Amino acid sequence: MRLEQYGPWAAIAGGSEGVGAAFALKLAAAGINVLLIARKPGPLEEVASQIRSAGSASVRTLSLDLATADAAERVKAATDDVEVGLLIYNAGAESTFSDFVDRDVSDATRMIARNITVPTVLAHHFGGRMRARGRGGIILVGSTGGYAGGPTMAMYTASKAFDYILAEGLWYELRPHGVHVLGLVLGATDTPAMARMGMKTDTPGFVAASPESVAQEGLEQLAIGPIWHSGGSEEFAQQLRTMPRADAVRMVAEASEAMLSE
Ligand SMILES: NC(=O)c1ccc[n+]([C@@H]2O[C@H](COP(=O)([O-])OP(=O)(O)OC[C@H]3O[C@@H](n4cnc5c(N)ncnc54)[C@H](OP(=O)(O)O)[C@@H]3O)[C@@H](O)[C@H]2O)c1
Repeated sequence: MRLEQYGPWAAIAGGSEGVGAAFALKLAAAGINVLLIARKPGPLEEVASQIRSAGSASVRTLSLDLATADAAERVKAATDDVEVGLLIYNAGAESTFSDFVDRDVSDATRMIARNITVPTVLAHHFGGRMRARGRGGIILVGSTGGYAGGPTMAMYTASKAFDYILAEGLWYELRPHGVHVLGLVLGATDTPAMARMGMKTDTPGFVAASPESVAQEGLEQLAIGPIWHSGGSEEFAQQLRTMPRADAVRMVAEASEAMLSE
């Protein structure tokens, strides 16, 4: 990990557990200071104290709901006095499954804020500064679910489609200016959030990637871009992108049912 390309600070939205925490620990071990953002203060502090004990980098935490109106401004304020050379926007999984019109519409508008508006504003804010400096990196974490509409998670899959398309455009625009952009598209990954959702990791033939390996792949692919399918999810992604759309939607529905059902 190149300190001179991505340091001295990284801001990690969703940095308290799973893939975000794995990124934080790897970056801190390489001497890059990290700002960890998530809602629950306990897990944030756990990761921060691991980094402090290792002693190779500074750490800040920001307990914040990224689905709120002032979220991006609060991230900007928390980084006003430092140079952010790497933005990782990891927060963004679905946590409940039900039909779009059965939910309160605020579920959808909060998803739009957390997975579309806030990463857009932060990519603009930090990306502009990185371009001016001629170095830096941005990773937007996506999902293979973003390649087809997902029943019972329609807004989530729509928001993930937005994230990888944004990453592709930014990759092309910022690359000539020395700024690396990656849409890191995850397949099934064994995160605490997925464990809380009841993801079955013991089904024969089903393999969930570890957060550590996903973060490692992300860091290795960042300088290449624009998209990396982690944990061997390339084949599933290609199938979804090329098959008839109705079949793709059915395939996402079946995959999520198989992954989460009792
Ligand atoms: N795990 C998988 O199988 C899988 C598959 C495909 C794609 N992905 C993508 O990978 C990323 C990480 O997923 P994950 O499974 O680790 O679950 P996640 O629920 O996105 O949690 C990851 C981190 O984000 C934080 N977070 C979630 N909502 C937040 C909010 N509103 N405000 C601030 N922080 C928030 C969490 O902490 P708090 O809860 O304390 O806020 C945690 O630190 C997501 O973008 C997801 O779409 C995951």
